[in-house]
Amino acid sequence: MARLKVGVLISGQGTNLQALLDACQDPGYPAEIVVVLSNRPGAPGLDRARAFGIAAEVVDHKAFGDRPTFEAALDARLRHYAVELVCHAGFMRVLTDYFISRWHDRQLNIHPSLLPAFPGLRTHERAIAAGVRFSGCTVHIPRVEVDGGPIIAQAVVPVLAEDTPETLAARILACEHKIYPLALRLMAEGRVRVVGDVAYIDGRAGPPTALFNPSLER
Ligand code: GRF
Repeated sequence: MARLKVGVLISGQGTNLQALLDACQDPGYPAEIVVVLSNRPGAPGLDRARAFGIAAEVVDHKAFGDRPTFEAALDARLRHYAVELVCHAGFMRVLTDYFISRWHDRQLNIHPSLLPAFPGLRTHERAIAAGVRFSGCTVHIPRVEVDGGPIIAQAVVPVLAEDTPETLAARILACEHKIYPLALRLMAEGRVRVVGDVAYIDGRAGPPTALFNPSLER
């Protein structure tokens, strides 16, 4: 079985990268990570890749005059490693149409909210301030609009009355580590069909029941 060659873009801790690295350890998993690129020198995620013997390089955005030049450098490194799909995993640079269109429908991003609610930054703080009863995370195919694009997978968690942005973030991050490997597997197995702004998954039933918060028994 040929495994899909994946490049991962990071900026920081790389715990989602770690979840993908762990998933790729299974010989039956249909994707392999061939390179990890960080725009920040010293991003801890770089060491996670190196611990697996995977190429990990810095493409520092500060070294480039404008976004397209930076994005061209990223693109060149990904092509050098014959990358077929790009995973954004805590990559904190907004990418322009230059990069997004080159990798059209060959990218995934993970975002810590139930998109299209709360795109952008400070998602957990904003979810708590809005009083939503559920939040969660989304893996989607990036488009030029920040955190927009066809949704592949979501996980839902309750927002508790006592939550702080930190406790909510931790609950959601644990789910991110489950849905990112799932979404990548579905992409790599060719089970995702994108029609316009909607992605359809073959042969996978949805959740068995509705979720209520507070519960109906209350
Ligand atoms: C995650 O919450 C991800 O959804 C967001 O940034 C965070 C990155 O965490 N885009 P990590 O670097 O994967 O640990």
